[in-house]
Amino acid sequence: MQSNLSQVLPDTAVVVDGRLQLAGVDVVDLADRFGTPLIVLDRASLETRAKSYAAALEPARVFYAGKALCCVAVCEMIEALGLSLDVCTGGELETARAAGFPMERVLFHGNNKSVGELEAARDLGVGRIVVDSHDEISRLARVGVTSKLLVRITPGVEAHTHHYIQTGQEDSKFGFTLADGAALDALRRASELRSAGLVGVHAHIGSQIFEMAAFDLAVKRLAVFLREAKDAFAFEPTELNMGGGLGIAYTDDEITPPPADSVQRILAAVEREFSALGLAVPELSLEPGRSLVGSSAITVYKVGTVKRIPGVRTDVAVDGGTSDDSYQKGLPSPEQTDRVYVSVDGGMSDNPRYPLYGAKYQALLANRMNDESTLWTTVAGKHCESGDILIKDVPLPVDVREGDLLCIPATGAYTYSMASNYNRITKPPIVMVEDGKAVEIVRRETLDDVLKLDRRLDGSAL
Ligand code: LLP
Repeated sequence: MQSNLSQVLPDTAVVVDGRLQLAGVDVVDLADRFGTPLIVLDRASLETRAKSYAAALEPARVFYAGKALCCVAVCEMIEALGLSLDVCTGGELETARAAGFPMERVLFHGNNKSVGELEAARDLGVGRIVVDSHDEISRLARVGVTSKLLVRITPGVEAHTHHYIQTGQEDSKFGFTLADGAALDALRRASELRSAGLVGVHAHIGSQIFEMAAFDLAVKRLAVFLREAKDAFAFEPTELNMGGGLGIAYTDDEITPPPADSVQRILAAVEREFSALGLAVPELSLEPGRSLVGSSAITVYKVGTVKRIPGVRTDVAVDGGTSDDSYQKGLPSPEQTDRVYVSVDGGMSDNPRYPLYGAKYQALLANRMNDESTLWTTVAGKHCESGDILIKDVPLPVDVREGDLLCIPATGAYTYSMASNYNRITKPPIVMVEDGKAVEIVRRETLDDVLKLDRRLDGSAL
């Protein structure tokens, strides 16, 4: 295996006779058995990350952000690990319920929770609700929710992968802003709700963050705000939830810091900023999604059409990479002006992250792991849309061809959970691998599943 790929592949990845194995299971065999596209989730990788978060935050809680990948078996795994769960819709809540997840360990998010969702949270006995708006405070009072409450604050810090900006986050559909006194008002109103109990505040400053200084600043602003709240109406939080957001490596030139180091840094900021203002230090909780499941899974596709267009690859930079920088460093690229489209049997319906965010990924061929990758290719899906690209520029073996099994690592988070049926393509299955065994934890969607919802013009079922 190219050693640099170990950053992005699940922990159990090894190469045996030129083929990729995860958790002792041959990926080519998995593709034969379950078909492609196929998501393969390595249980050990997920568990290692979860345990390291839990140990770093002990005795406080880690709420796995279900939005990254939500299905019954993943909820069961999170439950067995003793973690808590962040859900943000009635659908995610229902998935947790179906998994038998203890509701006391569930936290409910959302900028537009409906009355029906709040009633479900009340009836199920959801442990915590993160209050997001004044309208919601009124709904909570009407519904008579008895959960613990945290008020979501937008601290005016918006973090991106390698930098952060200030004040940007105030223009957000989420939470209450600090600037105009909305946060203080909300805290006061939430503290007056009779049935529920206000325990603290919440902030989430972005996703795929590597810039830890953004967390330091957000913590500092929250401490200043909470000092104000203490002075105004003697409220002191026992809980501070700093959301999710820690980044992972998608390509070999990114390095993922161990979650425990990042957690330590946030813990230290909380201790420092709250003590400095004479406040009791609240218990810190976090809501990691991507950094728990992202690098625990790969997606396996089958290569179909390979199309070469000579001389059109003009976005070539002189410094060894393409102009948009979405390349793998250290490999020869600048001279290749042929565009090579490698089309696979999935696409933006199972992973919309390139069209949505310009996301970067690596790729490898599970059936030819020892072949050198020197041909610059664009990995495309099979949707009827030019923008249906999975990876803009990635090296593959020069003779990449029909039947090869193309794998994209680091696809555990925000792929299946954002999947669609565009062009009536069905959603892939998820197979969990562990100790040489494979278990299908989400079955492949069939065309019957999709057509089942359709009605004829007269309203009758098919
Ligand atoms: N907590 C809250 C309140 C959130 O909004 C999110 C993510 C998380 C926790 C988990 O953040 P994580 O640890 O996964 O970064 N679809 C986008 C990511 C959207 C993130 C939404 N909120 C993507 O594919 O990159």
